[in-house]
Amino acid sequence: MAAADTHQSTAPFSLDSYHVSEELGFILPEPLTELPPYYQPWMDVALRVPELVDSHELRSLINKMPLLSSHFLQNHRELRLAHLALGVMTMGYVWQEGEKDTVDVLPRNLAVPFWEISQRLGLPPIFTHADGVLANWKKKERDGPFHMENLELLLSLPGGDSVRGFFMVTLLVELAAVPALRNIPAVINGIRCGDSEAVVRALDDIGRSLQDMTDALKLMQVYVEPSVFYGIMRIYLSGWKDNPSMPNGLIYEGVRTEAMEFSGGSAAQSSLLHCFDELLGIKHEEKSGAFLTRMRNYMPPAHKQLIEDISLAPSLRSFVQQQQANERLSQAFHLCVAKLLALRNYHINVVSRFITVPAARARQIRNQSQDCDGGIISRAPTALEERGTGGSGIMIFLKTVRDQTKDAFLPETSEDTKLV
Ligand code: HEM
Repeated sequence: MAAADTHQSTAPFSLDSYHVSEELGFILPEPLTELPPYYQPWMDVALRVPELVDSHELRSLINKMPLLSSHFLQNHRELRLAHLALGVMTMGYVWQEGEKDTVDVLPRNLAVPFWEISQRLGLPPIFTHADGVLANWKKKERDGPFHMENLELLLSLPGGDSVRGFFMVTLLVELAAVPALRNIPAVINGIRCGDSEAVVRALDDIGRSLQDMTDALKLMQVYVEPSVFYGIMRIYLSGWKDNPSMPNGLIYEGVRTEAMEFSGGSAAQSSLLHCFDELLGIKHEEKSGAFLTRMRNYMPPAHKQLIEDISLAPSLRSFVQQQQANERLSQAFHLCVAKLLALRNYHINVVSRFITVPAARARQIRNQSQDCDGGIISRAPTALEERGTGGSGIMIFLKTVRDQTKDAFLPETSEDTKLV
């Protein structure tokens, strides 16, 4: 594979062979909105998942769907739309009746094509970040800006406008990261040929882009309602690994007789922070590191390969350490670590607002009265209360990952820079 050879060759490091777009980074450029007509039975159901879940008809409609061959899907964008469509149908099918009445078996007319398409894409047979965010967008006005008002989802899950807000704000975070991504080769090539000026320039751009990611993340509170996220949406993003509601996983009928386990969709599956961690030399301890490494199997393989190749490139941290006298270089490096730390700190804030606070409220409502209707929040699944989609104690996990980011500061970092 061309991408795999890149780090070993003497050619300059470039993003060309990693399915990374110059303008959009990891975002899939111009996702298709329609499949070939043969697949209309899938799209007819996929486009109506929220309303069919609401009327409790989704499972029976999917049970009646014909078993279609995946062989008429010809190119990457067709496969991505098909994966997204089967992904939303699968989440709706499994969670239609909430956490108490899940299913053991995904029927073959959904399971078999989902499995085959997943194999061809190198993605797991579950709804992922690569589906819901990277390949699930459309501009209302084709030549209009990449703004919230001009963006819409191709396919949705229950939760109304908050679903669009959640996926599209995440898309804007991906977009804000593009300049940072584009500058990774400049850092690596600068180190390779000892051009510290080029490394400083690239790190300055990366630092600015990390700040823009945090600013984009701030839109989450504008476009997503915490009670809707917690009480309605979250279950449809959860998977069947380490999930007490589905302790045995899920049988993909016609694929394998044993049940299989897959984690739900999460931006931990975005390749961005994995790339920046590798570039800046941020190491994660055993347990959280294992979860993050496992999440790489939920990414398009070319993006996973990029992360691995960055990890094999010459160390930026050692380069900065070797040139201690170059203050501009140390400052630029420290600023990037500080901006990544600030992004993770802000993300912890977001998680508190969208999970910890509503979870506490849900517990309080349940304890106060058995039979009062506490609204959306109190209907949230209890099994997910303390857990991330990966089954980790969320805050412990996120704070561990945040603290390991701090460890990347070089010992002589001034307190001023750390606080940026
Ligand atoms: C309402 C918004 C969000 C919530 C409630 C949320 C929640 C979570 C949770 C619970 C985890 C723990 C791991 C897991 O359960 O999968 C996590 C991890 C993570 N999330 Fe989010 N998230 C949100 C938005 C975002 C956005 C927009 C991004 C940026 C692309 C993001 C990036 C990450 C990353 C990179 C991790 C892995 C931990 C790390 O590297 O620091 N999240 N998130």
